[in-house]
Amino acid sequence: MVLYINACVREDSRTDKIARALLDKLGTHYQELYLPDENITPLDETALNKRTDLIENGRYDDPMFEYAKAFSKADIIVISAPFWDLTFPSILKVYLENIYVIGIVSQYGSDGKPHGLCKAKKLYYVTTAGGSYTPDYSYDYIKELATLHFGIAETELIKAEMLDVDGFDADEIVNDTIKQINLADY
Ligand SMILES: Cc1cc2nc3c(=O)[nH]c(=O)nc-3n(C[C@H](O)[C@H](O)[C@H](O)COP(=O)(O)O)c2cc1C
Repeated sequence: MVLYINACVREDSRTDKIARALLDKLGTHYQELYLPDENITPLDETALNKRTDLIENGRYDDPMFEYAKAFSKADIIVISAPFWDLTFPSILKVYLENIYVIGIVSQYGSDGKPHGLCKAKKLYYVTTAGGSYTPDYSYDYIKELATLHFGIAETELIKAEMLDVDGFDADEIVNDTIKQINLADY
């Protein structure tokens, strides 16, 4: 199963357009999570205490773990998120803190290091930027989480940039990015 995690807020999102072209090329059914419409909230103290208690008691059947289980079971993960303030929209961070559940997506070994429990063989991160894109606080962070914490061996960045700069043709840049999506080694 392909899991599409959509953090694109705008209705005419260029990032979402590119991600859907990628999903078309993947050519298989996908499950979409449109994050702005999902019932996810930052972990407050009550939620954190509840989560800790459930994990300590091995109660992974609680509904609060459904997002983490779906993430862990997916074969391929596609995340779409525009470049906002050098990173991604905060709803994606809220989603990540909800799915990072010890015992479902990752497990700490006796070496003190995380060992991933996720099934996905690849995670795609799709983004667009108004100016030039720097991956430090978005793709690089997602890549580290995926590979070092979640056990997803491969990640790929698909990006289109300079979309809001005068003199650059945003439609052409987006269409070129779509044309360049190459799944040869998939
Ligand atoms: C809240 C907000 C913050 C943004 N921050 C940046 C930024 O830091 N750097 C940049 O190059 N573009 C920035 N942009 C422009 C977006 O990255 C650009 O318009 C992008 O293509 C939007 O994606 P979308 O069409 O999928 O909504 C920002 C846009 C918004 C709405």
